[in-house]
Amino acid sequence: MTDAVAGSLKSAAGLIQGTLDEAMRPMGKLPVVEAMRYALRGGKALRGFLVLETARLHGVGVEQAIWPAAAIEALHAYSLVHDDLPCMDDDDMRRGQPTVHRKWDEATAVLAGDALQTLAFDLLARPNVGPSGVRVTLIAGLARAAGAQGMVRGQALDIAAETAEKPLTLDEITTLQAAKTGALIGWSCEAGAIMGGANAGAMRHYAQALGLAFQIADDILDVEGDADVAGKALRKDAAAGKATFVSLLGLDAARERAQALVDEACAALDAYGHRAETLRSVARFVIARQN
Ligand code: IPE
Ligand code: IPE
Ligand code: MG
Ligand code: MG
Ligand code: MG
Repeated sequence: MTDAVAGSLKSAAGLIQGTLDEAMRPMGKLPVVEAMRYALRGGKALRGFLVLETARLHGVGVEQAIWPAAAIEALHAYSLVHDDLPCMDDDDMRRGQPTVHRKWDEATAVLAGDALQTLAFDLLARPNVGPSGVRVTLIAGLARAAGAQGMVRGQALDIAAETAEKPLTLDEITTLQAAKTGALIGWSCEAGAIMGGANAGAMRHYAQALGLAFQIADDILDVEGDADVAGKALRKDAAAGKATFVSLLGLDAARERAQALVDEACAALDAYGHRAETLRSVARFVIARQN
């Protein structure tokens, strides 16, 4: 099951990469553009895959869904380039390669991240994405999910937590993660319903549970994962004095919590019946993954 999901993710990653390469062709070969291309490679493409799969579930074709799928991967890549900067997590490795600021320099990493973010909105504005109402809804939704009510908010709370006097509570961590990781995963799952003109309620519920399970798995991997397999430095959360699901709950309870969230994510798809089996497999994959 996990292998099947890994295979589907890989083929989605290939499709998305092709679209991004094509969209970036007019940008030429400046170092900042090379840094963008570099930052777009080697990820699992989970968020892009969620866009493609939720689109399929709502009868939306890949020629339409590939644009928002590419957009979310560009936005996610930006978030990682900036997350790794010395002023943020100060990481040297990402996806098994030197981080962008290590391979080039900090200015290039800041600018490549900036341009990856604007590329995401450029892709969402393309006519193939659908009628202008759909495009505006997706653009506004991603702006909110990525910004000060979403991912940026979560990142700011995460950085602040490193120097806070007392560790965050479980409720505070849950709110932080819902913004930091959950908002982009939420947008990815709702995009297919929006393009298909359907109610996004079930997708939102699925994504909430999935996003939290994903982040708990990231925290567990930080404690007991293999850095070579993960492609990034691990054991950083405890070293930074960060409260995480694992530090607050302990490993066993964190695992149980992640499993309960996967069950909840699967149950949120009940109305879709067997057609949503791939999304259920994705939920199981998210907590079984080693990277
Ligand atoms: C890593 O996300 C950052 C977090 C939100 C925890 P992924 O694990 O999806 O990273 P890639 O895209 O596969 O490298
Ligand atoms: C990064 O979270 C989340 C975003 C970039 C929004 P982490 O800092 O935990 O991710 P990793 O562990 O570096 O991949
Ligand atoms: Mg971080
Ligand atoms: Mg980090
Ligand atoms: Mg982490």
